[in-house]
This record gives sequence, C-alpha cells and structure tokens, in this order.
Amino acid sequence: MKRNKLFFLLLTLFSFSAKSQFIINGPAIGGVTPAGARMYLCTEQPQTITVLLSEDGSESNTKSFQAFTTKEKFNTTIVDFSGLKADTKYFYSFLIGEKKDSIHGSFTTFPENGKRGNYTFVTGSCQETENMKVFDVIPKHNPRFMLHTGDFTYPDYQIAPDYSADYAKVAYSYRKRYDEKVMKEMLYSIPIDYVYDDNDYVGGNGGKYNKNDIRSNFKGKVEHKFIIDSFPPSWRRNVIKGYTEFFPGYTMADTTEGIYHSFTLGNAEFFFVDRCSAHEDPLAANFSYNAKKNKWSFAPIDSVKLFGDKQMQWLKSGLKNSTADWKFIVSGAPFNKALRKLIDKGMKIQKIQAKGYNGFHMATGFASYFAGFPKEQEDFLNFIKQENIKDVIVISGDTHHNVMDDGANAGLPEMNASGLSVTGTYLAYFLNLVGNGTMMYQMQDEVWNQGGNGLGNLNFKNAFGRVDIVENNYVTLSLIDEDNEVISSFRVYHSDYAGERK
Ligand SMILES: [Fe+2]
Repeated sequence: MKRNKLFFLLLTLFSFSAKSQFIINGPAIGGVTPAGARMYLCTEQPQTITVLLSEDGSESNTKSFQAFTTKEKFNTTIVDFSGLKADTKYFYSFLIGEKKDSIHGSFTTFPENGKRGNYTFVTGSCQETENMKVFDVIPKHNPRFMLHTGDFTYPDYQIAPDYSADYAKVAYSYRKRYDEKVMKEMLYSIPIDYVYDDNDYVGGNGGKYNKNDIRSNFKGKVEHKFIIDSFPPSWRRNVIKGYTEFFPGYTMADTTEGIYHSFTLGNAEFFFVDRCSAHEDPLAANFSYNAKKNKWSFAPIDSVKLFGDKQMQWLKSGLKNSTADWKFIVSGAPFNKALRKLIDKGMKIQKIQAKGYNGFHMATGFASYFAGFPKEQEDFLNFIKQENIKDVIVISGDTHHNVMDDGANAGLPEMNASGLSVTGTYLAYFLNLVGNGTMMYQMQDEVWNQGGNGLGNLNFKNAFGRVDIVENNYVTLSLIDEDNEVISSFRVYHSDYAGERK
C-alpha cells in the first residue's frame, strides 16, 4: 500500500514537471492565409518555444516552428507559420524548452485566393463589461475568423489616458486583451484580425495628435465648448509599434500612416481602415460658433479628412484592382452617410437636454464618423460609382449598438456590429424616440433600414455580427444576440446574381 502511494506521488510529480503551463498569455492566432498563419504568445520567462503543427492531432508527422520570447518584447513573440496546405485544419501544441505546455488548440488555413465557397465569419467591437456571453455563443457558429473593429478593452480608462506614453503599458494592454474571460479560450482556435478604435488608440479619441472632448453647461445660459488637447507623437508611434509587435496581424500598407491593411479569404477581399492614426484636425475644426446667437453650427471644411489622402488612395486603388467577388471595408467608424441627418438634427436641438444628454452631444458624436467629413465621403462614394465598383459591403463598430442598412440610406450595405460586451445598446432606440418626438427623422426608415437593437424590437442584449458568404450569389448579414437569437438578418445579392431572391 505504502509503495503504491509513493508510486502515485512520484507519477503525479513527474506529470506535473513534464506537462504544465508556461505560456501565461495567448496564444492568439491571426494573419491567416492559404499557406500560413501567425501566433502571438507570452511566457513567464524568456524562453525558446517550439510550436508543433499536425493535421491529425497526433504527435508524429508534425511540422515544427521555433521562436524565442525575449525581455525586450516583454516575454512575447509572434511565431510565423509557413508552407502549410490551404483550407486545412492544423492542431498545435508547444514545447517550451524541453517541456510540454498544457495549452493546445487548432486553426484552419484559408482556401486558395479566388476560390468560391460558403464562408462564415463573425465581427463585433467594444468590450468593457464583465458580461462575456457572446463569446460562449460565437464558437457555436464555427466562424473562419473574427473581425474585431476595436475598443478591444479600453486601455484609455482601464489602464490610464496616457498609457501609450509608456511602451510597457502598451504591451500590458495587449496582455489584457488576450486575457478577457471566455474570449481568451475562444482565441485558441478562432483566428482574429483587428483594428484599434478611439478608446484602444490614444487618450480616448481618434485624432492623429489630438484629444477631443466637449463640455456642456445647462445651468443658466446654455453653453457648449470643445476641449482640445494634443499629445506627443511618441504616444501614437507606440500604439502603432505595439500593434505590429503584439498583434499577429497582416502586413501593413504603411505604418507611418496607421495600421490599414488587407487580406483575402477565397472570393472575398477585406480592407481594414484606420480611423484614428491619420486624422489631423480636432473635432472642433468642422464646427463654428456664432457668439451673438450663442449658437454652434456644423460647418465642415473640405480639407478636414478622417482617413487622410494616403489611406484613401490605398483603399480606392485596392477596391478598383480587386478581383474578388466580394469586397469588405472594415472600419472602427461607421461609413453610413445618413448619419449626417443626426449631426444636422442634433445641432437643431443643441440647447435641449434630457437625462444628461443634449443635441450637441448627438451632433458631435456622429460628426466623428465618416458622415462628419462629407467632402471625403462624397468623393469616395463618387469614386465607387464612377469606377463601377460593385459588391462592396461595410463592417463597422464604435457605436455600442448593433444595426444594419442595405445601402439605401448608408450609401453602401453596412453592418454596424458594436456591442460585444457593453452596458447598453439603446442608442438607436433613444435616437428614434428623439426623432419621433421632434418629428425630424425616423431611424429605421432613414438611417438603418435593416433593423438592429431597439429597431422594431425591444432586444437590447449584447450581440455580434455573423456574415455568411454564399459563393458569388449573396452575403447574409445577421445580428445575433448573446443568447444566440437572431435580432435581424438580410441578404446582399451579388451584382451578377440572376437567381431567385428572398
Ligand atoms: Fe466602444
């Protein structure tokens, strides 16, 4: 009996030392192509890491890739996998030094570029609360990957408004992202691509070197003012560098300008745009004040741009030259041109306040989206028209609610999926109340015509977007809540589609 006890004790000790967890953050997989993928991970100490990939999960017949975590990169690394087979599931495991890590998972490479098929992916933005139910639901949909459109945690307040002044804090912000409850395990086997939005960029706002805010005073004379502050260029450089070193992303087009980039999945091409890094002017630049009337007006200036000329040129030529059946623009900021209505109507009711919110909030909030830069937006939409570029769909975030439009209002079909883990998704519902109360606009008819949280329903749950590409026939855009119920769904048919329509 005693001998048996000793044997089991030794066996337990041996198993513990032979197989344990040395990876303390990650893995997270991204940058997937038909022949490769990338993986972020962080170890407790600087280590030599061997990643073993196998097609059947066995320990024989593996491909091995070696990498090193280093002190300079805060014990992180990004491992590049290459020479893989297209559209193939790979199981991975780790050797840290000589020892086996208990973490393992899998990912699937993309089909060959151009290959038509049925492909499902998910999207969403904004996670700041304890409620992580969406991440229980997302894996049930078996997506190829997740497109995260930003506010992937809120380092500007969860760490500090000046977090990006210190590169160690930028590294920490990524450790926090990969440590989100439930999502953390999801990232072991669902690849992700990501673009930061305003709150996971610098100082809580999306300008190149500017922090913007507004202050309103409703005691006595109603007053609104813009608070403009700048930050050092090194803060911006640190977030761009952090993205390239701590996120397993795709090759960037031009990191002096931001983190915009593209990739292809089968017959779809994705263009990720960066609404933060290139926007030079403060929010106030597009507003003017009449002191006599104590009234602000929205007065957009043509030279004030959100995405900037270089990025816009990249996007335009990418769309023009794309041979993909489907072209997705992925952005933190909504593209919907009908949001201009909410800027103009908000200015009309700038002196009316309810529950701490007023028309000036409404107008300035929407003025930081693409509709707040009408010349740049008009020029872009005209380009799409003139060049006869078809089958473009926009995926966006930032707003803290989930809504869609078929393009009749927005200009292009758009899914604004922005409520992965937020305190409330009431925005469209409340805006609709304001629109009805003032008889100025109708949200569902004039802004987001394909529904969403609070539009034709009272579903205010957290949600994500599901996108199904069906060959070169159609794309289904669906908003799915945290209890796996469909909030709203519609199809975008391909311009060449001649079949039956639902
Ligand atoms: Fe957000």
